[in-house]
Amino acid sequence: MKAILFEQVGGPEVMKLSDVPKPEVRPGWVLIKNHAIGINFADNFFRQGQYLIKPKLPDTPGLEAAGVVEAVGPGVDHVKPGMRVTAIGMKTYAEYCLASGNQVIPLPDFVNFAEGAAFPIQTLTAYHMMYTSHQLTPGQTVLVHSAAGGVGIVAVQIAKAAGARVIGTVSSDSKINLVKEYGADAVINYVTQDFAEETLKLTDGKGVDLILDAVGKPTLEKGLTCLAPFGHLVLYGRAGGVPDPVNLMSLFQKSLKVSGFVLYTVSAMPDKHREGIEKSFQLMGQGKLKMLVGKTFPLAEAAEAHRYMESRQSVGKLVLIP
Ligand SMILES: NC(=O)c1ccc[n+]([C@@H]2O[C@H](COP(=O)([O-])OP(=O)(O)OC[C@H]3O[C@@H](n4cnc5c(N)ncnc54)[C@H](OP(=O)(O)O)[C@@H]3O)[C@@H](O)[C@H]2O)c1
Repeated sequence: MKAILFEQVGGPEVMKLSDVPKPEVRPGWVLIKNHAIGINFADNFFRQGQYLIKPKLPDTPGLEAAGVVEAVGPGVDHVKPGMRVTAIGMKTYAEYCLASGNQVIPLPDFVNFAEGAAFPIQTLTAYHMMYTSHQLTPGQTVLVHSAAGGVGIVAVQIAKAAGARVIGTVSSDSKINLVKEYGADAVINYVTQDFAEETLKLTDGKGVDLILDAVGKPTLEKGLTCLAPFGHLVLYGRAGGVPDPVNLMSLFQKSLKVSGFVLYTVSAMPDKHREGIEKSFQLMGQGKLKMLVGKTFPLAEAAEAHRYMESRQSVGKLVLIP
């Protein structure tokens, strides 16, 4: 089968379309014929050898894909060959991928393959930050950094559906209207404006109850200055660099909380994992949550897609079509 392979870590150019053996299903696993493959920012880190999971060279990137079940290993009961599914899998930049049975999600009829490929990682990350790490309630105010991005645009919608007031940040004015269309009450260009000052202005000096921050170094410390009393900052990425250590004493004055989030923690909790999937599909069915597929690329152009994501021009989810 065709797959993207890289033989050394490095920039997007190390990824090449290659021929590799089709994976074989094994107990507890599902083999999927991919129709659409989700690109995640983490794939950049994986390609560079800087992700939690290290590549075993030569390796294939990819954590997510939607398609049709080709084969099911013993011990997996909830899906059958021929079913439309999406999954958090491994080596998904390929024509076929393997996913552990508990990470395979049947797709409702109203979700197409590209939307399905955009669903699991970004939606469950956004959902669980707001409902598992934090307990979001109507009337709270949420600041979503890089709000036009994959996780960001989903977080804006889930927060809005919860009855929160939503403020987004973006790096260029061209993304502002889009984030408003997806429900944000206000959007700040955090390159040309001081986002903490603007946030305090927008909240009459009170600050926000929750900040979702995957930018890191340029935003974390400043974010603490625009949290409301008992406010909570969730750090879930480092697109802009690893943040400096937080001075815990700086949390005292307003009883603040800083926490980390990674989706793997929830993936290992079946009830929570199921809750996130059911609630998110419910929101999609009600028209309150839409997957924004910003751009699709042929599988062979994975390097081009990574360059586009790193350029900060992309909005929503980038998807590869095998
Ligand atoms: N912890 C978890 O379980 C988990 C799960 C999924 C994703 N994440 C993290 O969440 C973030 C979003 O992931 P995604 O896949 O949805 O990607 P994405 O948001 O579509 O793309 C990343 C965004 O980060 C912003 N950004 C800020 N500084 C940047 C920099 N120096 N270089 C490039 N981009 C920069 C850009 O938006 P602006 O230019 O508008 O700022 C860019 O669009 C990533 O940091 C990712 O690692 C974490």
